[in-house]
Amino acid sequence: EQINKGNYEHYMQKEIHEQPESLKTTMRGRLIRGGSCKAKTVLLGGLKDHFKTIRRSRRIVFIGCGTSYNAALAARPILDELSGVPVTMEIASDLLDRQGPIYREDTAVFVSQSGETADTLQALEYALENGALCVGITNTVGSAIARHTHCGVHINAGAEIGVASTKAYTSQIVVMAMLALAIGGDTISSQTRREAIIDGLFDLPNKVREVLNLDQEMKDLAKLLIAEQSLLVFGRGYNYATALEGALKVKEVALMHSEGILAGEMKHGPLALVDENLPIIVIATRDSCFSKQQSVIQQLHARKGRVIVMCSKGEAVSVCPGGLGRVIEVPHVEDCLQPVINVVPLQLLAYHLTVLRGYNVDQPRNLAKSVTTQ
Ligand code: G6P
Repeated sequence: EQINKGNYEHYMQKEIHEQPESLKTTMRGRLIRGGSCKAKTVLLGGLKDHFKTIRRSRRIVFIGCGTSYNAALAARPILDELSGVPVTMEIASDLLDRQGPIYREDTAVFVSQSGETADTLQALEYALENGALCVGITNTVGSAIARHTHCGVHINAGAEIGVASTKAYTSQIVVMAMLALAIGGDTISSQTRREAIIDGLFDLPNKVREVLNLDQEMKDLAKLLIAEQSLLVFGRGYNYATALEGALKVKEVALMHSEGILAGEMKHGPLALVDENLPIIVIATRDSCFSKQQSVIQQLHARKGRVIVMCSKGEAVSVCPGGLGRVIEVPHVEDCLQPVINVVPLQLLAYHLTVLRGYNVDQPRNLAKSVTTQ
């Protein structure tokens, strides 16, 4: 039943709207909200015999391609914060091109929706040869990456048919947030933080349902942007990955040039592009980077930029003083989970842009769901 489109016109649309349910399935049986004396905790059965080794590793390296790489990047801040082990990121092809360092004392985590991507699979072989502990995070039971890694976690998002990955992305982030919680263990100093994240995870499907109500608003925005040549997305911190992933969705399905830009780098080049025509989405939801993003928005306005701000619900006035520019208001959640919410309007925007521009949503030209050749 997962394989037909139901009431939806396209798989991508169905998969975007399925996210409240796919996230529930991803978390099912893995989050424990303890009784009176038991703490809230995370159970990842596939890794239970390996946590000791993971905690003792010299480094945890996350490896993937495309959307799966972006998901790891979105989880990076919480992995940095909670895991207690230095965390690095590698794009599989780049790791192979450089024959980058992978050591016996490393834990290498392979993130792949299909579990069959050739670059990621080859990077796995390379890490195995170098003696690292290899962990798989895939959506496909029995896939090559699931079979060849030492241990792993299935994201259980259900079959994803649309070439552009949507529900797998949000489930991957949630799995990696749970992984950060599980590796961090039960240190007293981070207990309040951990429990807030677990509460946030329980509530996340409801918040995703809420953000899906922006569908019509995103369709209206797509109508405004339909004939544009280019779209920039600025993010930083927890939402740098959201900027990359939003831009990737727009370019891969709507066939519109789009770049995700680290807002901290704006003054080192991208600022030269700003004029009254180029649309720029700035992600400025409430977190520790908020005031820096406010200043980015001011600088863009000072250069007459065409700014669209994504902000937390009720904060339109603080991001757009004087009502300048358009605003996308999203529900506020725990900072490390905010990327799961913030990507949804961008997925909807990419979807509607594609339909309005008359392109193939589920099979974009030149792309494949699973790239099994190098
Ligand atoms: C292809 C797909 C992308 C996907 C990437 C990685 O390029 O078109 O949507 O993100 O491969 O795929 P994986 O199955 O390894 O997550």
